[in-house]
Amino acid sequence: MAERLQKVIAQAGVASRRKAEKMITAGQVTVNGKRITELGTKVEPSDKIEVNGVPIEKETLHTYLFYKPRGVISSVKDDKGRKTVVDYFEDVPYRLYPVGRLDYDTSGLLLMTNDGELANKLMHPRNEVPKVYVAKIKGLLSPEDIHSLTHGVRIDGRKSAPAKLKILKTDEKKNTQIVQLTIHEGHYHQVKRMFEAVHHFVEKLSREKYAFLTLKSLTSGEYRELTHEEVSRLNHLSD
Ligand code: URA
Repeated sequence: MAERLQKVIAQAGVASRRKAEKMITAGQVTVNGKRITELGTKVEPSDKIEVNGVPIEKETLHTYLFYKPRGVISSVKDDKGRKTVVDYFEDVPYRLYPVGRLDYDTSGLLLMTNDGELANKLMHPRNEVPKVYVAKIKGLLSPEDIHSLTHGVRIDGRKSAPAKLKILKTDEKKNTQIVQLTIHEGHYHQVKRMFEAVHHFVEKLSREKYAFLTLKSLTSGEYRELTHEEVSRLNHLSD
């Protein structure tokens, strides 16, 4: 994937993005032996970049499986100073960002990566990665609700794609249910809005599975790096 030259230099840890821009305009940077002073220039991973005649070491690609706790924001920084998913990766020397989002009050499986190409692939609607959620909902689902949820409900004038649903637990006294929902879409508040469409409020939500990946052996707030095999399987999901 082509990236802006200043970004690649910054990612390699040579200098901040601002400083990298100054180095480019000052003529200190060459790409494949050619001096580049234009800031918008894009480079490919195969391009040879030198700063003051010294080749930069490009960041290697890493992807982690993170068990996001509830009460954490799925972004790199937050204007309101809330804890972000990146705060959990202080000991990791790569610039990771989340693949998609989980709501502030949703917990569960979130991939964190510095591999832009993989992230784009996974988030592309065409690729329809299956995701399994477990929701605690208010009220009990009727057979009609189940039919609607599995065949598609209207959200903002658009029909949701078919979903799989399994009732894991019913508490008649408390009038709540624990429901497993498997979907392929990833629109904003997708699960909450699907239940809302059949008049059930989601009290608690967690993502248990993403494609073939599960939270196995992790507890809330923990992460592990994906194996080469797992990354390769993710890369080939869309083939
Ligand atoms: N659907 C939601 O409503 N929230 C999430 O965090 C993920 C899916």
